Amino acid sequence: MYDKKKTLEIDRKHIWHPFTQMKDYEKMDPKVIVRGDGIKLYDSDGNEYYDTVSSWWTNTLGHCNKEISNGIKKQLDTLEHVIFSGFTHPFAAEFIDLLSGFLDKSLSKYFFSDNGSTAVEVALKMAFQYWQNLGKTDKTGFIMLENAYHGDTIGAVSLGGVPMYHKLYKPLMFSTVQVKGPNCSNCPHRKSDYTFDTSQCGCNIECFGDMEKAIRQHGSKTAAIIIEPLLQGAGGMILYRKEYLQMLEKTAKENDILVIYDEVATGFGRTGSMFAYEQCGTTPDIIALSKGITAGFLPFAITAATDKVYDAFYDDYFSHKTFFHGHSYTGNPLGCAAGIENLKILKRDNLPCSNKNTIEHFHGKLREMEEFDFINDIRYLGFIGAIDIVKSRKNKIPFNPEERIGKKIYMDSLENGIILRPLGDTIYFFLPLITTPDDIEQIFKRTLKVLTGLSI
Ligand SMILES: Cc1ncc(COP(=O)(O)O)c(C=O)c1O
Repeated sequence: MYDKKKTLEIDRKHIWHPFTQMKDYEKMDPKVIVRGDGIKLYDSDGNEYYDTVSSWWTNTLGHCNKEISNGIKKQLDTLEHVIFSGFTHPFAAEFIDLLSGFLDKSLSKYFFSDNGSTAVEVALKMAFQYWQNLGKTDKTGFIMLENAYHGDTIGAVSLGGVPMYHKLYKPLMFSTVQVKGPNCSNCPHRKSDYTFDTSQCGCNIECFGDMEKAIRQHGSKTAAIIIEPLLQGAGGMILYRKEYLQMLEKTAKENDILVIYDEVATGFGRTGSMFAYEQCGTTPDIIALSKGITAGFLPFAITAATDKVYDAFYDDYFSHKTFFHGHSYTGNPLGCAAGIENLKILKRDNLPCSNKNTIEHFHGKLREMEEFDFINDIRYLGFIGAIDIVKSRKNKIPFNPEERIGKKIYMDSLENGIILRPLGDTIYFFLPLITTPDDIEQIFKRTLKVLTGLSI
């Protein structure tokens, strides 16, 4: 293994990191991580870090879970990969058999790919072609939400609504109808000072008005609406009420529009239920899943669809209804092995339900932050929590973006044995399902040390 010096030397010379202004590394080195164990990562100097962002929201059962690594090791000597067109394998079958036990029965057809963006690309091409195959060739449009994030490939970017990530690429995108999204943090009907778990919202889902209008205006030309259920992640950890999804399901059905749920981030227990949609009593026509699907071990994804969608593609070859989409690593057996072990653990250990104690403890600790004047909002859903920070809430003074407070918090957090990676002025926690109340104590102790130590 290369030592720290050599790793950094080569990194600095040749490696271009994602979502990173590489010039920032002139003043700091990236941490060289050499080991992971449970919720912690360890660097080449032996320092530990609480991985509160679950390594880009992928890790659900802690780092280096032995059952999952053993499952992959066993698989390695049997079959590492095989083309998935014209061939299948027992590992894909076992994985889907397990996964179908967790998803709504109406989602009965599963398409494999290898990351969240591809899962979304598959979903949007499926939705588009569904209407083409049915002969409704006018239905080509998509409705999406402000602050939506669905990935970084151009199809997924076209469905995105975060100006910082998406605006520049506009000339490359297909056009969509962007709707003002629900956001309980900005709701004028909220009864409590902070959003908390959104149950304090005394509204009648007035925020659905914009979506309703868009559906009325554009419905006949719309193929699908795409949405992140209950929580818009990269857009700022924005929470909204389940009734929004209930109204969306009803209105979309009435107007003959498909609904795509993007549970790439919210899936596999993170929100306190296996999938966020379970908390809403709604189901989509198509769902995109990735990240926690292998508990953070391997790149892997699924796009699941209903029989209604699938049947529109099922015909004689020369009807030209084939779904011509696929990736080299589609259905990778190693990914299946990781997914199988992950799902077996979730089932056996009844996660996330069996860890309600930690969830409650976590929410309690977040609520305790009310006392600080630099906290502007507090919100949470399952193992996800977010706080918006300001210079002074009382005096309504936000941070000046030029101060790059997020970067400062990130750097200070590393000095304090914790990884905090704010989205703008929003500090968030995206915790694994195996987090304990003791971990929560440590995480908050270290977070408060960082925040109260800032000279703001
Ligand atoms: C909701 C959502 N969809 C899609 C993606 C894209 O996933 P990936 O980064 O694996 O391409 C993300 C990534 O953060 C996400 O949060």
